[in-house]
Amino acid sequence: MTRIGVIGSATVGQTLAGGLKTHGYDVRIASRTPGKLAAFAQQTGIQAGTFADVAAWAEAVVLAVKGSAAEQAVRDANPSNLRHKPVIDTTNPIADAPPEDGVLKFFTSPNDSLMERLQAAFPDVHFVKAFNSVGSALMVNPKFPAGRPTMFYCGNDAGAKALVASIIDKLGWEGSDMGSAKAARALEPLCQLWCITGFRENAWTNHAFHLMKR
Ligand SMILES: NC(=O)c1ccc[n+]([C@@H]2O[C@H](COP(=O)([O-])OP(=O)(O)OC[C@H]3O[C@@H](n4cnc5c(N)ncnc54)[C@H](OP(=O)(O)O)[C@@H]3O)[C@@H](O)[C@H]2O)c1
Repeated sequence: MTRIGVIGSATVGQTLAGGLKTHGYDVRIASRTPGKLAAFAQQTGIQAGTFADVAAWAEAVVLAVKGSAAEQAVRDANPSNLRHKPVIDTTNPIADAPPEDGVLKFFTSPNDSLMERLQAAFPDVHFVKAFNSVGSALMVNPKFPAGRPTMFYCGNDAGAKALVASIIDKLGWEGSDMGSAKAARALEPLCQLWCITGFRENAWTNHAFHLMKR
């Protein structure tokens, strides 16, 4: 698959769109108001469109929107445009309330996750959680002295996960498959853990997770 549509116009959307293009994919990026991406489009050569237009064009999609708007964004994209397509879900269920002692508040609970809610609402879409557990500045070609950091991913569809595994590898990560969509209950809180040193120490670019194995 080469045509990847990025639904999301902010830092994650722009970072992954640029990284995917650099690594050889044919990429488009989407906003509810594509005009605001004019400078980005001119600078990168990545065409901008609406959520629905980009979803219809793409063979696979990156969902990079505000967590509380994720379901609405998929509706705006028109779920029929995403039928049986892999959707890399980068979103996190961050609540509007401020963090406490650096710990973000979620609007989900421990035995639930945003991606499971999306999967239940849109059963024909092949969601794969990934790229939610690190800041955008590190998403593409992260460099650490100890080697590649780990990108955890999960989802119900094996074919979609195989595509996401290859993207994770191309973008410079060691992929680690955590199983079904239910594993998003564990992957989404990694965002809370990763952000703590950001909020407490203003350290936003110097750490990522690595799964030690033997
Ligand atoms: N920032 C990071 O470093 C980071 C790292 C890992 C994961 N994440 C997760 O990745 C996602 C994107 O993060 P971000 O910081 O790039 O951007 P963000 O500010 O969380 O989200 C911006 C995007 O959300 C869309 N949006 C907002 N309200 C909407 C609504 N009511 N209906 C439909 N779409 C709506 C915006 O659409 P328009 O384009 O139309 O304005 C825009 O594309 C979030 O879920 C975040 O938790 C962020």
